[in-house]
Amino acid sequence: MKLFNLSKESVFITGASGFLGLQYSEFLCQQGARVYGVDLNENKKILSLQKKYKNLKFYKCNITSEKELQNLSNKIFKNTAPTVLINNAALDFSPDSNDDFIKPFEKYSNDAWKKTMNVNIDGVYLCCKIIGSKMAKLKRGSIINISSIYGIVSPDPKIYENKNKKKKFIKPIPYSVSKSAIINLTKYLAVYWAKKNVRVNNLILGGMQNKQNKTFVKNYSNRVPFGRMAKVNEYNGSILFLSSNLSSYMTGSNLVVDGGWTSI
Ligand SMILES: NC(=O)c1ccc[n+]([C@@H]2O[C@H](COP(=O)([O-])OP(=O)(O)OC[C@H]3O[C@@H](n4cnc5c(N)ncnc54)[C@H](O)[C@@H]3O)[C@@H](O)[C@H]2O)c1
Repeated sequence: MKLFNLSKESVFITGASGFLGLQYSEFLCQQGARVYGVDLNENKKILSLQKKYKNLKFYKCNITSEKELQNLSNKIFKNTAPTVLINNAALDFSPDSNDDFIKPFEKYSNDAWKKTMNVNIDGVYLCCKIIGSKMAKLKRGSIINISSIYGIVSPDPKIYENKNKKKKFIKPIPYSVSKSAIINLTKYLAVYWAKKNVRVNNLILGGMQNKQNKTFVKNYSNRVPFGRMAKVNEYNGSILFLSSNLSSYMTGSNLVVDGGWTSI
């Protein structure tokens, strides 16, 4: 049971105010880890979690700014480093979004492309560079990069068909491309830091139910072998596994948790 214990772990998690970030932060606190939650957005939910758990500290920070990350890292860690880095922050797009990010490929906005890549790739790269390098110096650590099924296969346009919507939803191309890119960023760093005892793995997730329109939920569920979307707490086990010594011989790997989506 010692392997499950996170009381000696300290976790730096980005996107802590988001849907899954809040879930992971609370779960990790409950497992006894010291949690440093980071997000661009400071909301009521993360502040109330901070009140509830003494082992959670929240920091507002833009992960695309090397300067902000460096200042924060110096402030929190000085000569030390967290034992776990979870690169969870990203720009993602629900089937109910209707903005400049949702356009057919032929007319895709270069600005939307760059903004997405900036958070989803540059942000992960910078966190690895600043926090991961500190881990490597101390010769220990686990980095968990959060990818998506859309980083290994294309989105399936059929699940977005919806007669009730005036504008057709198309999952933005930079989301898929950025989620693919971090898969090989992970493998590169896994090999690069193997001798430094820093493990680097991908956690590749399927879609989670989160107030999307009913047609989408039905279409998605019909497409997935389990016949449903993931529940918000169904990735906690993988976070525990990758954060702890349970995964001590695992690096450069893809842990796919998708209800069977990518098996068809
Ligand atoms: N929700 C799903 O169904 C699903 C499926 C597969 C993969 N994922 C991945 O899981 C992760 C979390 O998803 P989620 O549903 O919780 O998303 P979310 O949008 O609820 O949370 C993302 C968080 O990242 C933060 N963020 C964005 N840009 C930032 C920046 N520059 N600096 C700091 N923070 C920034 C946002 O403020 C937000 O709180 C993402 O990487 C996403 O791609 C989610």
